[in-house]
Amino acid sequence: MAITPFIADHPLIQHKLTLLRDKNTGSKEFRELIAEITMLLCYEATRDLPLKEVEIETPMAVTKTQVISGRKLAFVPILRAGLGMVDGVMQLVPAAKVGHIGLYRDPETALPVEYYCKLPNDIANREVIVLDPMLATGGSAIDAITQIKARGVKNIKFMCIIAAPEGLRALQDAHPDVKIYCASLDDHLDEHKYIIPGLGDAGDRIFGTK
Ligand code: PRP
Ligand code: URA
Repeated sequence: MAITPFIADHPLIQHKLTLLRDKNTGSKEFRELIAEITMLLCYEATRDLPLKEVEIETPMAVTKTQVISGRKLAFVPILRAGLGMVDGVMQLVPAAKVGHIGLYRDPETALPVEYYCKLPNDIANREVIVLDPMLATGGSAIDAITQIKARGVKNIKFMCIIAAPEGLRALQDAHPDVKIYCASLDDHLDEHKYIIPGLGDAGDRIFGTK
């Protein structure tokens, strides 16, 4: 049984997502919105980080309080579009390490083609959150997570902005242990495997390449 996905219903996320989807939103605002939605999703994806008690002195008193302890994080964006999510997560977790996996979808087959992989040496000892704004067929996410598991990583989450039902199912079937966080579960894929209603091509909109 796959872990139940987290699908955001927060009004701030839904409002920002509407702006993000709009075809009239330009690259600058698109990048800002991706970063903001990513931060809001990261808040949820890090909810289970363990805490430990420490003693500190405020200007008024000595007190016992909590800091994050134990598990260290690594974020792994899937190039290119996943790069748009890195700033948002690194603002919240600045000590995390960042690995990169390069994949693009073959325009004819929609199957992922690998072209780059550089992961932190100690990744097996880290909790990994894979970043990609779009989960369409699921091929890219499945491939990236398979590569990360091959490096010995046990604890993996996947964070996207928009998921298609087809991609969600495929990812859950391939990696039932991976919890998925997304801002929206959309309707379906079209004949070119693009998400409907979606937001178009995330990489092109982030980098202005169309
Ligand atoms: C997009 C997107 C995902 C992938 C999703 O990348 O960013 O990586 O497609 O599709 P899938 O779930 O069917 O695999 P794309 O291949 O367009 O590359 P880019 O990020 O370099 O633009
Ligand atoms: N990749 C995108 O950027 N958008 C889609 O709708 C599907 C794959």
